[in-house]
Amino acid sequence: MKAFIAVLLAVLCFEGLKAQCPEPNALQDDNGNKLCARMFEHSSFYNEESCKGQYIDVYPNDDYPIMTWTWNDRISSLVVSKFCSLTVWSNSKKEGYKKKFSAGIVYHLKDVQKGLFGNWNDSISGYYCTC
Ligand SMILES: *[C@@H]1O[C@H](CO)[C@@H](O)[C@H](O)[C@H]1NC(C)=O
Repeated sequence: MKAFIAVLLAVLCFEGLKAQCPEPNALQDDNGNKLCARMFEHSSFYNEESCKGQYIDVYPNDDYPIMTWTWNDRISSLVVSKFCSLTVWSNSKKEGYKKKFSAGIVYHLKDVQKGLFGNWNDSISGYYCTC
């Protein structure tokens, strides 16, 4: 029984390490404050390895029509909190294409269509989040 529990714990811990994307109903910053969304620098074709790299914490009612150059066109995956929605624009000052994400995990922004031929990988230049 002890061995079984040890194996079970090992498996759970391993899963814990693999699962990168936070759950939409448990999204909070390092101090335990509620987040509206979190946006990540990288994604992976393995869902469980997505949400990688550096990230931006987005709080309820955050309104950033202009992103710093360090983050402009760099977001590749994101998570939106339960009962919240994140609106993004492809150009700064809320111009260009616009997309509204409701609560959930977007493992690959590459798979989200932008306009006729584009996708949203490394394309977010402004955002607004509300809960
Ligand atoms: C997203 O865009 C960046 C920069 O062009 C690229 O390095 C990365 O591979 C892309 N991600 C995917 C999933 O295509």
